[in-house]
Amino acid sequence: MNKVSAKSAEGETHSKLILVGEHAVVYGKPAIALPFPLKVKALIKESFGIIKFKSAIYTGPLEKMPGRMKGILECIKETLNTLDKPLEGLSIEIESAIPLGSGLGSSAAVATAVVRGLFSFFHQKLSQKELFYLVQIAEEYAHGKPSGIDMAAVSSRHPILFQKGKDITPLISEAPLFIAVAHTGRIGDTRRAVENVRKNYLKDGEKVKKSLDKIEEITDMAEKALLNGDINLLGKLLNDNQQELIALGVSDNGLNALIDTARSQGALGAKLTGGGLGGCIIALADNLEKAKVISKALMKAGALESWYFSTCQDTLYFPER
Ligand code: PMV
Repeated sequence: MNKVSAKSAEGETHSKLILVGEHAVVYGKPAIALPFPLKVKALIKESFGIIKFKSAIYTGPLEKMPGRMKGILECIKETLNTLDKPLEGLSIEIESAIPLGSGLGSSAAVATAVVRGLFSFFHQKLSQKELFYLVQIAEEYAHGKPSGIDMAAVSSRHPILFQKGKDITPLISEAPLFIAVAHTGRIGDTRRAVENVRKNYLKDGEKVKKSLDKIEEITDMAEKALLNGDINLLGKLLNDNQQELIALGVSDNGLNALIDTARSQGALGAKLTGGGLGGCIIALADNLEKAKVISKALMKAGALESWYFSTCQDTLYFPER
């Protein structure tokens, strides 16, 4: 996961998808997330003077990072503080394949890669507790009050069942899942989506509570279906979950159109993934070939990007255009 040489080190991680349970997880309900093989790498090198930061969105001195990157800035500062190292003598370079603001866990993944890279650079062991404490700093700036599912999922090699305040349960099934993912092309707005649900809760608590309870039921059933390899039931549960996300007010026309396309191409089920209001959809297929057909159709239907993969491999496929 992390490589070390004399004067440089790397920290790596991957993206994530929420299979079921987003939004309800903010209210203490369980949710299931999967590793998604879009990768991010942080390269840490010895340098002279102030810390230099390099990424696709900002290159320059660490201290001059734009306001919207304050989360990763504070995370780096606290990581060096934890390591008892000064804020100097390093360059930090991010190579990320994860699109920003797409419900794919980019902010948690970048922070995870950086923290891992810095601990490797200084030859220090990193516990999961320390990793979560440090990544949470970046996440709070990105999301307000995150449930923590993103950082748990981007640092796990397995699908996980996540519930606030409980141990994370790896969900290891013999049967792989075949999944197509597509990006609407619009940046998802998790902060606004979470805020919408909260406002709806204040306005019509009964209705929102009913949806959150239904999502909890769906997640419980999805856990069993996943472990038993019952993909037909899992597909139906994805569709049921989408109905509740619509009721919560976090889906939109662009997401719904891609979901319809996936279903019409034979997906066993499809829903938005992550915060919603833009961002990505996820569709479950019978096999990899079917996931490819769905992925191709999603591109044809106007997705900005689409990928397909199997949860038993670390390989991500792109449909030919
Ligand atoms: O960061 P996103 O867009 O994948 O959303 C995370 C999932 C939410 O449940 C909507 C928010 C949270 O903090 O759990």
